Amino acid sequence: MYYKKDPVFPADFLWGASSAAWQVEGGVAEGGRTPAIIDLNSKTKKPYADNSVTADHYHHVKEDVALMAECGFSSYRFSISWSRIIPRSDGEVNPEGVAFYNSLIDELVAHRITPIVTLYHYDMPVWVDEELGGWHSRRVIDAFDHYVRVCFNAFGDRVKYWLSINEQNMQICYGKWLGVDKGCKDWEKEKWQINHIMNLCHAKAVVACHELVPGGKIGPVPGYVPIYPESCRPEDQIAAMNAEELTEKIWNDLYAYGEYSGFVRKYWRDHDIDPDIRPGDMELLKAAKIDFFALNCYRSNVAKDCKPGDAHTELQLNKSGVKGEFVYPKYPGEYQLAANPFVETTDWDWEIDPIAMRYMLRYMWDHYHLPMMITENGFGAHETLGEDGRIHDQARIDFLRQQIYQVGMAIMDGCDVIGYNPWSFTDLLSTGNGMAKRYGLVFINTTDEDVLDLRRVKKDSFYWYSNLIRSNGQDWQR
Ligand code: BG6
Repeated sequence: MYYKKDPVFPADFLWGASSAAWQVEGGVAEGGRTPAIIDLNSKTKKPYADNSVTADHYHHVKEDVALMAECGFSSYRFSISWSRIIPRSDGEVNPEGVAFYNSLIDELVAHRITPIVTLYHYDMPVWVDEELGGWHSRRVIDAFDHYVRVCFNAFGDRVKYWLSINEQNMQICYGKWLGVDKGCKDWEKEKWQINHIMNLCHAKAVVACHELVPGGKIGPVPGYVPIYPESCRPEDQIAAMNAEELTEKIWNDLYAYGEYSGFVRKYWRDHDIDPDIRPGDMELLKAAKIDFFALNCYRSNVAKDCKPGDAHTELQLNKSGVKGEFVYPKYPGEYQLAANPFVETTDWDWEIDPIAMRYMLRYMWDHYHLPMMITENGFGAHETLGEDGRIHDQARIDFLRQQIYQVGMAIMDGCDVIGYNPWSFTDLLSTGNGMAKRYGLVFINTTDEDVLDLRRVKKDSFYWYSNLIRSNGQDWQR
């Protein structure tokens, strides 16, 4: 649909940005925090920096929130580090960890910025992994329940928007990359068991939020990559549907309806990979009624037919930031991915596709009829301070302008979208490329090789976004 006027955003739209504890905080051994599995995983990503310092938000809370306020934010999405709150297997609450997040939340509230809090963003405490068996074991369910209840009780008086598990679908689809497959002998089978346990943790969090947080709302955070068929060949359309099911729909159906779809049950049976579903599990999943979808969307994919006899090819992410390294996977009998000649790409081969944003919102609204907020979307780039001491990130401004415009178009189409929180507020650690791949509206003066003065420098995109926010999405400064 084309419209005669620019989109109009709701008056109470939440404009902000996003981060995750392990990627932004640093201070990994301070305030009683114990290590998380992702700390160890980030150490394997050399030559990029690990997460021990990153943006050092742990020591810059007041300054960072003041910058958010200066930009005009009405929301900020961040995550809580489980091992700051519960550092050991005795389950004792760490008062210093609670105090840290209280100081952040209080600072946000004082600046009229709505906190949006992720409970789990890849950073399982090492003690959960080593002493309880991590995601492989059902013992994690009670430990997670204890942790989230502590968070709801400690922060629920001020935090009303909660997010359960970040990109569970990506953790299962790309288990190796994110370190979730650690210790698995047969990942293709065991991942569905891990996934079921994650679903139970998500469900417990939803139930506990509604029980403990007056007026609290909670949703999952799928990573969504719209998938287009490569051509109008009917086989390509089915391949696109297969890709959609196996990377996204299986999760979204479960969150929305509290049950496993016929598609996934049949898939498990055909491959003899049924997870261990015990009495009471399905009742718990059914009882977990989410309030909204939080959606992360950066790019799109193209799928095409892949015959059963074709050779299997594993997906390989671009880890260098030099275009052309991404390897499109082939899953014989299911689908294969391919390049899209109609869109540009970033230096990491991520498709730059603003229409994907509108597509996602339309698709999710049509399927689930739940409010949605964007919790990640952004442009990763190599960046260094210019001679004038500034960052002129025009490419990021163009990216954000087009993406946000398409959020507006989806709202014009009738979708219920309540907020936009791009990745990321400050530069922070990328999952695979340390500080070499920067997303922030605010530059952090540090590199992978050396920790510098960690000075905060507002990029051009900061000023552009600030103007857009202050006009509630009317001043596009084209
Ligand atoms: C999202 C994750 O999938 O993508 C973030 O939730 C991540 O944690 C972001 O940082 C961007 O990915 P990357 O690999 O460029 O850091």
